[in-house]
Amino acid sequence: EAIVLLGGPGAGKGTLAETLKKHTPYIHVSTGDMLRAAVRSGSPIGLEVKACMDNGQLASDDLILELIKERISQEPVDAKFMFDGFPRTIEQAKGLQTLFSGINGTVTHVLNLVVDPDALVQRLCGRRTCKTCGAIFHVVNMPPKEEGICDLDGGELYQRADDNEETVMNRLEVYKTQTAPLIDFYTESGLLHNVDAGNPPETTAQLSLEALNA
Ligand code: AP5
Ligand code: ZN
Repeated sequence: EAIVLLGGPGAGKGTLAETLKKHTPYIHVSTGDMLRAAVRSGSPIGLEVKACMDNGQLASDDLILELIKERISQEPVDAKFMFDGFPRTIEQAKGLQTLFSGINGTVTHVLNLVVDPDALVQRLCGRRTCKTCGAIFHVVNMPPKEEGICDLDGGELYQRADDNEETVMNRLEVYKTQTAPLIDFYTESGLLHNVDAGNPPETTAQLSLEALNA
């Protein structure tokens, strides 16, 4: 089974996933992280997706569904997944249903992180990520103790290639046209829980845990 973290770019999906991992049995699966790893390693998939990621467009549904299928198959059939950044189109959501119908899997909750668009831009432009452990910081909202250095392991903090203002605008547009329709899709299936994610991360995590127990 699985839960889905839905929300615009920078809504705090990755940050929330880090906390939920500590309090729930869900295995964190981020398609964005998987694709960035592929780009770093220079694999064929990485070469294929780099250009579209760099300008904020989506990778193809087929490629993403293939990645997810393979990732699911690496865990026991009763594993519980937390999908972050997937599904991102209606096509992907339907593909997930098909994948799950083959293994008796089901999506139990969709947490829709609701944040004002202006705040999204501010969050993305100030984000810094650790090169070694992937920990997420923000220069203003969640500053590391020492500038440019990860609190957890001393790793170097970097700015994602797609976190510049121009690409951020494209990502917001792509979200509106291709991903936001999933809100209706999952409302109709009775799975959607809106979470006010405009507050500090602890509050978002608390509200999310409450929604999961509901
Ligand atoms: P992906 O990596 O999924 O990017 P995204 O959806 O744009 O989301 P982000 O990772 O940017 O943000 P987030 O919501 O995780 O926020 P975070 O917690 O980091 O995808 C990247 C690209 O890969 C896509 O553009 C596409 O090309 C491709 N791709 C990925 N999946 C795909 C798919 N399924 N299909 C097709 N293509 C796909 O927080 C952001 C910042 O805000 C941080 O600095 C954080 O410290 C700060 N922050 C977090 N929470 C708070 C808070 N409560 N208050 C204040 N600041 C906060
Ligand atoms: Zn680190």
